[in-house]
Amino acid sequence: MLGLGTVGQAVLSALTDNQETIAQRAGGPLNVKRALILHPERHLGHANLITTQWQEILADDEIAIVVEVMGGMEPAFTYIRRALAAGKSVVTANKEVLANRGDELFAAAELSGRDLLFEASVGAGVPVIRAVKLGLAGNRVHQVCGILNGTTNFILTEMAQGMVDYQQALAKAQALGYAEADPAADVDGHDSARKIAILASIAFSSRVVEADVRCSGIAQVQAADLAWGSRLGWVLKPMARARLVAEGLEVASYPAWVGPGHPLAHVDGIMNAVSVRAEPLGEATFTGPGAGGPATASAVLGDLIEAARNLRLGGHAVGCTCYRQLAIFDPARAEDAFYLRLTVRPERTVVSQIAATLAEHRVGLRQTLQAAAADGRGEVVVVTETCRRGDLDRALAHLAQSPSVFTLRPPLVVEAQSA
Ligand SMILES: NC(=O)c1ccc[n+]([C@@H]2O[C@H](COP(=O)([O-])OP(=O)(O)OC[C@H]3O[C@@H](n4cnc5c(N)ncnc54)[C@H](OP(=O)(O)O)[C@@H]3O)[C@@H](O)[C@H]2O)c1
Repeated sequence: MLGLGTVGQAVLSALTDNQETIAQRAGGPLNVKRALILHPERHLGHANLITTQWQEILADDEIAIVVEVMGGMEPAFTYIRRALAAGKSVVTANKEVLANRGDELFAAAELSGRDLLFEASVGAGVPVIRAVKLGLAGNRVHQVCGILNGTTNFILTEMAQGMVDYQQALAKAQALGYAEADPAADVDGHDSARKIAILASIAFSSRVVEADVRCSGIAQVQAADLAWGSRLGWVLKPMARARLVAEGLEVASYPAWVGPGHPLAHVDGIMNAVSVRAEPLGEATFTGPGAGGPATASAVLGDLIEAARNLRLGGHAVGCTCYRQLAIFDPARAEDAFYLRLTVRPERTVVSQIAATLAEHRVGLRQTLQAAAADGRGEVVVVTETCRRGDLDRALAHLAQSPSVFTLRPPLVVEAQSA
């Protein structure tokens, strides 16, 4: 094992607790021989296992499978590549490595004829990688979308249900251990971006990397937005979506409004879910715990048993399935409906002025709502028809110059099924 933290320790416990079952299913017992860690003083209870010397693991021919649960880009990437090159199978939970340099690792696995398995890297306990890669292999996927980050789903759920602001919800997430001290990767949308890159690569058989994913976070969302959303019958979700459009693949991670009929509308708190639209399947949604040691260990163990069985029987798992390269669609041309919130001078003509400016840039208006705001200002919420993001950005730049508009919050996507 590389790493003995939250996930590593949960894997170790489950290997002991479920020893009998795992041995039966793997075709023999699985014994942990070594665990690489950084701080030996934190692991005194595992003195017989721990090492700080990676070479001890790499050079040990008795070690057939390496479980990488240390995280981060380096040295994890190098260790996985070297382990594969040395003829060991690898099970990893590391989305950062896979979403950025997965192609190199699949090539190394192919060359050595060993397994590279990564179920825990997306959705933790939700076995969605296998479902999409194997269970849906006969389908043509049109769209895969999901809630892939439990931290931000928890924060938005708290904001909506407790009507607290972003900072209070983040502080609660940190106090409960759902958010890290530095929550940037979660709240800026990068964690979801990595996961949707991995999922999209499998669903569309075309390599997608983190840099291909249009990304926006939740830090700009205010309690007032959640209150407006509730009036509209919507909830805000940390969405990750990959969809096939005429010109290629559009992949994004962003907060989005969903209506009560959307498959992700009732996925709350730290839960994760993935919804796949495909032919001939139709639509299927997979839900489960998206974080935490035990849930993540569940996925790692499934991979571990598959790798062990393959080594025993002389086969290997399905490797890289990216047989084509689809173009990544220009985000400025992506089409969605949007929610806008503006504070304005309380004039009778202000809504018609906003509508006229939007129309000049080919942005249609589906709905407007108005309320009095503080300091004698007015507040206007606009829901647009489906339009190009680039057109909307030009319209907003124009509106920002208007003497009738005081503030303009960042637009939020309204998912199609929320209409
Ligand atoms: N936690 C979750 O809910 C979850 C869910 C899905 C996927 N994952 C993924 O699982 C992986 C592990 O996450 P985690 O939460 O278990 O992390 P963690 O609690 O921070 O544990 C990391 C472990 O790796 C060791 N480590 C880190 N850098 C090392 C280095 N350079 N050399 C040797 N050992 C090193 C640490 O050693 P010390 O203990 O000595 O410091 C620690 O034991 C990450 O890729 C993460 O993204 C986590």
